[in-house]
Amino acid sequence: MRIPEEVILDIKYKNPIEDVISPYVALKRSGSKNLKGLCPFHSERTPSFTVYPESNSYYCFGCGAGGDAVTFIKNIENLDYIEALKFLANRAGVTIPENRYDDSIIKLKQRLYEVNKETAKFYYENLFKPSGKWVLDYFKSRGLKTETITHFGLGAALGEWDSLIKHLKSLGFKIDEMLQAGVIAKSSKGTYYDRFRNRSMFPIMDLQKHVIGFSGRCKPGEEKNGGKYVNTNDTLIYKKSHNLFGMNFAKGNCKDGIVLVEGNMDVISLHQAGITNAVAALGTSFTEEQARLIARYTDLITLVMDSDEAGIKATNRAIGILSALGIKTKVVNVPSGKDPDEFIKLNGGDAFKKLIENASGDTDYMLFKLSKDYNLEIAAEKISFLNKAAEYLSGLNDSLAIDYYAGMLSDKYGIQKSTLLLKINEYKGKNKNKAKKEAIRNIINPKINRAYVNPYKNRNNRICNSEELILNILMKHPEVIDYNGLDENVFISEIAKRIYLSIKKLYSKNTMFDIALIESEYTNEEIGYITGIFVNNSNNVQNFKELIKDAVDALKEESLNLNDKDINNMDNSDWERYMQNIIDKKVNKDG
Ligand code: UTP
Ligand code: MN
Repeated sequence: MRIPEEVILDIKYKNPIEDVISPYVALKRSGSKNLKGLCPFHSERTPSFTVYPESNSYYCFGCGAGGDAVTFIKNIENLDYIEALKFLANRAGVTIPENRYDDSIIKLKQRLYEVNKETAKFYYENLFKPSGKWVLDYFKSRGLKTETITHFGLGAALGEWDSLIKHLKSLGFKIDEMLQAGVIAKSSKGTYYDRFRNRSMFPIMDLQKHVIGFSGRCKPGEEKNGGKYVNTNDTLIYKKSHNLFGMNFAKGNCKDGIVLVEGNMDVISLHQAGITNAVAALGTSFTEEQARLIARYTDLITLVMDSDEAGIKATNRAIGILSALGIKTKVVNVPSGKDPDEFIKLNGGDAFKKLIENASGDTDYMLFKLSKDYNLEIAAEKISFLNKAAEYLSGLNDSLAIDYYAGMLSDKYGIQKSTLLLKINEYKGKNKNKAKKEAIRNIINPKINRAYVNPYKNRNNRICNSEELILNILMKHPEVIDYNGLDENVFISEIAKRIYLSIKKLYSKNTMFDIALIESEYTNEEIGYITGIFVNNSNNVQNFKELIKDAVDALKEESLNLNDKDINNMDNSDWERYMQNIIDKKVNKDG
């Protein structure tokens, strides 16, 4: 699958970076050349997301996201490289010569969107047939208004085994397309049948409001026989763990945050009651991808979870995932263990809004939850609880919050606030050790910290800086590629070596360096790293000689130090030991 380089560049340069980004991010001038806004890829309060019209790129100094128009569209619209190019080509009216590359996957995806769209229409229309009337009645019995049913595109899967197959066939779809869309299935005998039968149907939409899958609920009263809900399995266009039910509507209404509930029906009821920022995870436990999706739009989530054991566990998990991404969480316990849906039916939407407004922060929640583990009537258990609470509070970064909660516990449990604070400080000391371990974990797990594209930076930042300077100059001055003494062996870190070779390859074809041309060879995080190097403006060719010498010297010095294995070949435990060494050294040095 190849698009010619001149077409890629044509597409890119007909899509000025600020025009591409401005529908998604409010940009303000910053200095004479650049623009700044709040990063859509992580949550922040002061803008560190910078757009460089001159080099047609963007870079976020907060999270290290960066790239060009193609990277941006890839990430914000959840597309792959080719799809992002097509998206931009469309936007600028560039035609990609179709015969020049294999676009069968894109075409198939397009067909799968079509299958889903027609299926949703079919289910919707079934609501108004005699055999589908029970579903319409069911929705009405659950308090849904006609507008709501239309808004969410709800529908009915009928009882026959093949009514959808027949319908889609009549529209010209192939069996394989229906299979790949997940709306039909194949029996062990090799026959095909409608995947959803006798169910009330909830279409799942992506952010562009394409229908990408379905959730189907059984007839009321039949919950015990087999699945209450049947959901589309992952397909080419649908990943359960990457989507949230209702996000297509909620994304435009989340100035006050997002409300995460458990069920589709809850989402729908909440939206109908005017709480249009509600979403639900689709029958999965909440995932990091779902958290990232939310983080693009808001930094506050209100979790509305069941207060049974499973619900508490799920809540804790979600709080962990969300706080790692810098998203604040609040928790609502719906009184008397009701679904939000049931609660609204009894008390109305305004009452639910009150619940959200009065939701406690996660600290209140955690303390509350902790208190449930102890019998606070018994002195010894109360002490254990306060100890645990002190330990928990010692992990908060906000000294004001610590003071506040120490005061609260002191009032509530009749213990001196100063005593509690002393205990908290004691735990803080112990935490230092923990923090070290946490730092190591973050380094080892680059998923959480995308800045660690180049693990070598932790080992020798000076070398990496000079590598980055050399690459920066190389990207802008092709003549430097022939500099005597410069070859890939000058670079120590793996990623720098790769970038060097990419640049060299471009120059050997007499092509200028452009991120768009190497985009498909690197991960999004790596492209961010490369862009970070590229947008750096402080270097000039004059000190190039020195830089090379520096790097070569450093390399020699390093090869002396590198007695055993190369860092890139270390396994996790080697790496952990190694990092511990470095951190210990650093701690000793810093006192
Ligand atoms: P619930 O059992 O709480 O259903 O599951 P609900 O949403 O309250 O539905 P009603 O009110 O009884 O009609 C919560 C969510 O878990 C997923 C669904 O997404 C559901 O909305 N789920 C549940 C499944 O995916 N499969 C199941 O078998 C059950
Ligand atoms: Mn329910």
